[in-house]
Amino acid sequence: MDTKNENKSFRNTPEYAEYQREGFWASNDGKVMPFNTEPGALEDRAKEKLSEGGWLYASSNAGQSTTHLANRQAFFRHKIIPRMLVDTNKRDTKHEIWGHKTSAPIGFAPIGINKIYHPLGELPVAQVAKELNLPYCLSTAGSTAIEDVGKANGAGTRFFQLYMPHDDELTVSLLKRAVASGFTACILTVDTWQLGWRHDDVNASNYAFYHGQGADLGLTDPVFQKRLKADGIDPKTMPNEAGAKWIDNVWHGRAHTWEKLPWLMKTWKELNGGKPFAIKGIQAVQDARRAVEMGVDGIVVSNHAGRQVDGAQGSLDALEKIVDAVGDKTYMMFDSSIRGASDVVKALCLGAQFVFVGRLWVWGLSIMGEHGVRHVMKSLLADLDIMFNVAGIQNVEQLIGNREWLESHPAGQTMIAERSRL
Ligand code: GLV
Repeated sequence: MDTKNENKSFRNTPEYAEYQREGFWASNDGKVMPFNTEPGALEDRAKEKLSEGGWLYASSNAGQSTTHLANRQAFFRHKIIPRMLVDTNKRDTKHEIWGHKTSAPIGFAPIGINKIYHPLGELPVAQVAKELNLPYCLSTAGSTAIEDVGKANGAGTRFFQLYMPHDDELTVSLLKRAVASGFTACILTVDTWQLGWRHDDVNASNYAFYHGQGADLGLTDPVFQKRLKADGIDPKTMPNEAGAKWIDNVWHGRAHTWEKLPWLMKTWKELNGGKPFAIKGIQAVQDARRAVEMGVDGIVVSNHAGRQVDGAQGSLDALEKIVDAVGDKTYMMFDSSIRGASDVVKALCLGAQFVFVGRLWVWGLSIMGEHGVRHVMKSLLADLDIMFNVAGIQNVEQLIGNREWLESHPAGQTMIAERSRL
């Protein structure tokens, strides 16, 4: 492709498509691309690189993986209808989320304990997110202190994903730290009062927090430090007990209910002058309506990538129904099983304004740390940019909620088994 194409100077977003050229040209200069980003190959490579525990945790799904399967198959029932001879020379993948201008309507999904995937944990991920100008979302189950992640993300856009403890003082402490570290939205996850039943992890006793790893957000928190002291737990000599106390605060097995939400929203907004509060993990139209009535600034339609409720509908199917009900009333986001640009486009056409990507960057991180995350996410941006070019899409706004781009088949077909974890 022509790198001197003058049209690119009109664009708001870099010509990500040029990353394709880098790959095609590489061997002339004796270079190779870092690894294959085809999702199956990517996953296979990550499996080779990871410890058994890292692999099992990252790839696990609830129960029989049928929700995960439904997530993937929901994408297959929508087909993109490309348009030709459209002027895509000035095409643009840019988007604005809550006042932040980003390279694309794509963010880094909140994923915990990155240190089981790479020794540097969340830091390289936050760094690359900034570099690519994509929002980064830190998980409460992260394995790096909030403050350090804030620094690594620097001038980037970052959100804090909250698993809300049943300890209000601790919740407030976490939120204060997030605000002080430049996190500009709170995204409350409501589908994980405890982890879903994941056969492999239970069988392998694979839960990093109970084995002295991953409690960093807690161990660096002054309120949680008080709680440890009160219980006589010294994290240096009793790391397993400290980790267990932390994660049992976070995934506590006790449900929160809608009644708690006004307090949380008010607290978050008071701490930071009214910055956005969103709710993640919604799948039912009734819940989406309730969230909107409560005044949330956004909903992430997600089923936790199939890791929580087994036997559930595909998240993309849920998106469609939720958008029909409340899509014009709040900022609509989507998460669960995005594997490429076509999936991003389909979610946007069905009414998502923004999508989160998770396992793709986890595989990249697992394979090659910072370089791996960069390669995967640059490839996704290139895939999207090229998709815009070849399908006749000029900008993101043309897609959002515009189902004319899709030929959609009815939901509810029998699922065909594929590789269960892909
Ligand atoms: C936590 O978010 C998990 O899915 O393990």
